[in-house]
Amino acid sequence: MFIGTEKLTYTYMSGTPFAATALNEVSFSLGKGEITLIIGPSGSGKSTLIQHLNGLLKPSSGRVYFKGQAIGSDKGELLRLRRRIGLVFQIPEEHFFSETIYDEIAFAPRNLGLAESEVRIRVKDALEKVGLRAEQLQYRHPFQLSAGQKRLVAVASVLSMNPEVLILDEPTAGLDPSHRRNLFALLDNLNRSGGLTVIISTHHLDDVVALAHSVFVLQGGRMVLAGPPSEIFTTREKLYDLGLSLPSVTEIMHSVKEKGLPVKTNIYTLAGARQEINRLKGRPGR
Ligand SMILES: Nc1ncnc2c1ncn2[C@@H]1O[C@H](COP(=O)(O)OP(=O)(O)O)[C@@H](O)[C@H]1O
Ligand SMILES: [Mg+2]
Repeated sequence: MFIGTEKLTYTYMSGTPFAATALNEVSFSLGKGEITLIIGPSGSGKSTLIQHLNGLLKPSSGRVYFKGQAIGSDKGELLRLRRRIGLVFQIPEEHFFSETIYDEIAFAPRNLGLAESEVRIRVKDALEKVGLRAEQLQYRHPFQLSAGQKRLVAVASVLSMNPEVLILDEPTAGLDPSHRRNLFALLDNLNRSGGLTVIISTHHLDDVVALAHSVFVLQGGRMVLAGPPSEIFTTREKLYDLGLSLPSVTEIMHSVKEKGLPVKTNIYTLAGARQEINRLKGRPGR
């Protein structure tokens, strides 16, 4: 497996009266270059799972694997791991600590011990990848940016390490629709062009479901469903029971079927819906 867990269990404040088991025997395995969505109601364990994947939290029991090897607790090893697996926190701009955007993005490559000439190239590349202009922005204070630009700078500050895996914890919180679209277009592009493995926890299925190769559904710290979107979104009742919704396109296909038209319902992208409706009309799909 490229990245995954085996019976990962985690209890916060273990051994105290406040002990709370946030993950319960979660196992999964992902291949390189996949885009995976983690969905689940608030408190279901998404952030706890994500923080195990780059070694920020240590399992109470079970294991986390990267490139076939179990992640240990050696400090040097964990440091190396965090350079390969970049994590963008929810509302990452709250963690900004530098005076300029340049310094914010340069932090990780400087930590890698790179020469400043190389750091400069990394910063420029990372800003370009997220669609921001280095010349215009790099010497400004991070707080002079719009909410969407701040989020992109946070993503750039992780990309500047050239990670193999990018993990984003609810990256769309507080972003307007156009910034959401830009962010997901960027992830799609990084995945397609560079083979970046991406793991995203999100509540905004519509923007991102078309990119996903697999979907994990968490509830009460357990992995209750896992599979490709075409499987996960066929079972409407199950997701409703979990307090989750379907992608809008899938909801519409279900409604159309209820009206008596024999459409498939395991459709979750606009392109898929268009093809299915054309099929009904007896036209070849586009
Ligand atoms: N720092 C913490 N201390 C104690 N309990 C926590 C802490 N962080 C999360 N939890 C608990 O762990 C469970 C899972 O939380 P979390 O992973 O944040 O879920 P999600 O990201 O899906 O909203 C919840 O019951 C939450 O209350
Ligand atoms: Mg969370």
